[in-house]
Amino acid sequence: MSFEHVDYTSLDIPPAPFSDPSRIPDFPRDAVPRHVGVIMDGNGRWAKQRGLVRTQGHQAAEPVVFDTIAGAIEAGVRYLSLYTFSTENWKRSPSEVRFLMGFSRDIIHRRVAQMDDWGVRVRWAGRRPRLWKSVIDELEMAMDRTRDNKVIDVVFCINYGGRAELADAAAQIARQAAQGRIKGDRVTERMIAEHLYNPDIPDCDLVIRTSGEYRTSNFLPWQAAYAELAFVPELFPDCGREVLWRAIGDYIHRDRRFGGVQ
Ligand code: IPE
Ligand code: IPE
Ligand code: MG
Repeated sequence: MSFEHVDYTSLDIPPAPFSDPSRIPDFPRDAVPRHVGVIMDGNGRWAKQRGLVRTQGHQAAEPVVFDTIAGAIEAGVRYLSLYTFSTENWKRSPSEVRFLMGFSRDIIHRRVAQMDDWGVRVRWAGRRPRLWKSVIDELEMAMDRTRDNKVIDVVFCINYGGRAELADAAAQIARQAAQGRIKGDRVTERMIAEHLYNPDIPDCDLVIRTSGEYRTSNFLPWQAAYAELAFVPELFPDCGREVLWRAIGDYIHRDRRFGGVQ
């Protein structure tokens, strides 16, 4: 079955409303992870279980993305990185890649006003080459429109790969060394951190991967070097803010030592 005739543009699923405030877990504000990353996995399996095509699994993920953003706002998370399309995802069939590109572009277009209302600052992490120009254009319009919002930064990781990000940082540093602006044998961790895609965003505290897979698939290797990891069994379309809150609830009880002793 071809993906082509799935008309995703007509699928304007309303977001779940913000839940009853009494249902929001009462996390101590300073214990909540500042930066959470989510590897949103399992859309294809969710669709397959229902006899649907893979792209319908991606469509089912859209309201879950926005429910997760809402839940992150309610919990007091300041930065949320969403792994949307990896540098490895180009290996998928041309029709699935085409769908994911068009769908990402359309979601940003359709949801930017809502994100703006919620106080979301839209960000992007990823490589330009190969990414559809229309996706970059929508991202740039959304980033521009929401640049002064301060409730939460939501980073769409699209055409993102951690190794690509580090290679891009290394290339910029090498260029500066070639120009004599820095000494090539004096590369520091701080210099690498300053050349990541979004150098102002703090390290990731918690990475959540859905769908029961135990790997990080090239997601934020630098920023999440000391992150706590949460692997949850639910397929992403079956998730939502409760899954995020459960992972935050577990995180709060972790003992983060960063190599030191208590
Ligand atoms: C995650 O779901 C979405 C993307 C990687 C774009 P998958 O499409 O990887 O779903 P599974 O892992 O095949 O079930
Ligand atoms: C990771 O999921 C990428 C995204 C969620 C965008 P994949 O499904 O692509 O990762 P692998 O293939 O299981 O490692
Ligand atoms: Mg997958």
